[in-house]
Amino acid sequence: MENYPKAFIYDLDGIITDTAEFHFLAWQKLADEIGIPIDRKFNEQLKGINRMDSLDRILKLGTSGRVLSDSEKMTLATRKNEYYLELIESINPSHILPGIELLLQKNKQQHIKIALGSASNNAPAILDKLQLTGYFDYIVDASKVKKGKPDPETFTTAAAALGVAPDECVGIEDAAAGVESINSAGMFSVAVGDVHHLAAADYLVEDTAQLIFEDIIAHYGKR
Ligand code: BG6
Ligand code: MG
Repeated sequence: MENYPKAFIYDLDGIITDTAEFHFLAWQKLADEIGIPIDRKFNEQLKGINRMDSLDRILKLGTSGRVLSDSEKMTLATRKNEYYLELIESINPSHILPGIELLLQKNKQQHIKIALGSASNNAPAILDKLQLTGYFDYIVDASKVKKGKPDPETFTTAAAALGVAPDECVGIEDAAAGVESINSAGMFSVAVGDVHHLAAADYLVEDTAQLIFEDIIAHYGKR
């Protein structure tokens, strides 16, 4: 146990389940409707970013130049969330990404605390649908922070609630904004995805099946 971290803090969308894809599909539908089409490349900039900031990033792509009022923006963001809610309606435990439940079990066996560090308002409901809520000692969702990712607040809030120092935490993310958040919180960052977007991570794997507890510990020990 010498060099074990004391907490693992997990991102939700794109790490625990593939809701990152559903966020993209819902934004794409809305963006098409308002005449500002988006593609997967642009979507990398939306990963990890909260709802209103994501909308602002899409609107900035538009060329009409008209500035929307807060209530117009709220209407659009609500519509996107309705599309998203339709997509996640039938989520169940079969949608947990490979390797994740085993990693959570290993955390528990080793008495390592577990938190969620998500930018999503929908995070608690999704954890419930996946029947994973019982693993988590603390949940940070959009309602718990003032500054979203890439600000460190999501991860520092989780660590403080768990009573663990940042340098004894491992954070796991699929978004560049999330890795920046973990790194600036002073934690060990593990990223899942493409080196092109996630080169800032301390340890990078290609997919969640490669999130092997012993490998993460070995890399954490070498930091
Ligand atoms: C993050 C996703 O986890 O949550 C973003 O990576 C999403 O794509 C954000 O925009 C906010 O989610 P929600 O459910 O509050 O709209
Ligand atoms: Mg994510």
